[in-house]
Amino acid sequence: MGLKPKQTKGAAMDSPEQISPEIIEELIRRAQAAYQSAYVPYSHYPVGAATLWESGRISAGCNVENASYGLTICAERNAVFHGAYHGERRLKAVAVAVPTDTFPSPCGACRQVLREFSQDCLVILVNGKGQTKTTRLSVLLPDSFGPEFLG
Ligand code: THU
Repeated sequence: MGLKPKQTKGAAMDSPEQISPEIIEELIRRAQAAYQSAYVPYSHYPVGAATLWESGRISAGCNVENASYGLTICAERNAVFHGAYHGERRLKAVAVAVPTDTFPSPCGACRQVLREFSQDCLVILVNGKGQTKTTRLSVLLPDSFGPEFLG
């Protein structure tokens, strides 16, 4: 039936990944480019995210707000869902970029959505000065719940 989407669960035990500096730079550039598309008439806080998948694909997203504020979607979730749409299930890294001096930090909901596709991906935070702070998902979301709990 070639129409059945992949249901392979995402998160697997990741080993510390080797990602070249060039790919990291590209991921950061894609996250910075993504916040240019943010739709933020309420918060005026643009965020861009770019996800690197095991296939090598990079998928990006920005935050998109709504007059019904609670319907706003964050940049990280848009980037993850964009990759999932393309069939990606294994996340290696995510870059999150903002134009402000303060580093961004993925919200709790986005941390859990990242966790669906990785137990411990690399997380690169980028501020408006182009400075980076690198951490990991397991630091941002310790003792986490994920798809493997469901058998
Ligand atoms: N936001 C993101 O897109 N990602 C984050 O990591 C934190 C928050 C968005 C949601 C909303 O559009 C705006 O930033 C202010 O909360």
